[in-house]
Amino acid sequence: MLLQVLGTAAGGGLPQWNCACPGCSGARAHPGRRRRHASLAVRADEGRWYLVNATPDIGDQIEDSAELRPGPGRRDTPVAGIVLTDAELDHTLGIARLREADGFRVVATAQVRRALTDRLHLDDVLAPYTKITWRGLDVEPEPLHPGGGVEVSVVPVSAKRPRYAAETAATDLRGADADGLGDHGWVTALKLRDAATGRCLLYAPALAVWTDAFQEAVESADCVILDGTFWDDDEPRHTGISTRTATEMGHLPIAGPLGTARRLAAARARCLYTHLNNTNPLTNPESQQHALLGSWGLEVAADRMVIEL
Ligand code: MLT
Ligand code: MN
Ligand code: ZN
Repeated sequence: MLLQVLGTAAGGGLPQWNCACPGCSGARAHPGRRRRHASLAVRADEGRWYLVNATPDIGDQIEDSAELRPGPGRRDTPVAGIVLTDAELDHTLGIARLREADGFRVVATAQVRRALTDRLHLDDVLAPYTKITWRGLDVEPEPLHPGGGVEVSVVPVSAKRPRYAAETAATDLRGADADGLGDHGWVTALKLRDAATGRCLLYAPALAVWTDAFQEAVESADCVILDGTFWDDDEPRHTGISTRTATEMGHLPIAGPLGTARRLAAARARCLYTHLNNTNPLTNPESQQHALLGSWGLEVAADRMVIEL
């Protein structure tokens, strides 16, 4: 299975357009520290790629990768579709940028689909431009692309709704329990498995709770790319971006007693952090936290990283 890391930043990116915090200023001074919004590309079949989440950077992310650029025909594209972990704006705004396509697939849970169609009205807005073909996501593995060798399934990790859909009750969403995930389908981790080799990637850019099912998924994965939004639980408060803790914002922190790093210590998989917020000290490769993470055997994912599983 072939994967490309297209971006590794949380909402806003690094630098964020209206922010002069140390992380954003550092990325302006050192272009090597810049990070695009978190996204991944997975080769579902020969010449057929799916993007995991559609970010505001999607156009540049496609253009930057030789495998994702169009050709040989004028309007041939290897980008067959999008698979979504959640309905957050930093993971979905890029869908509208694909409107020049004749059509593309969007693979999402019922909750995520309903948020995008009933709240953002993506279906109605894009219908005059392109044809979206929706496909469901379930805890049971299904081929990501018809006939392709990569299977996808989900592990529910949070019932947190995007702010624009905060009042959405499960019952407001027509057919929202169609996939049996109900309220737990709002934020999911994706399991991408190569049916031929059995090799598996677990991708969880937002992780609010470490459930038994998530633990099992970590144990059976060959590579884990997970939520590295905040270094510690108090970071959103002490940096002044929120009155809530990281956990209250739906992101388990990396360090500390309830942090994810301790839980990953026993994992056999290669483990990398993504979705870094601009407040995260890991955005500075010279920080002591960066060295500490390395000493724990854990990595920070980098934009343009290629992972072959
Ligand atoms: C998140 O990751 O928690 C969201 O993207 C935050 C937001 O954009 O409001
Ligand atoms: Mn986000
Ligand atoms: Zn900043």
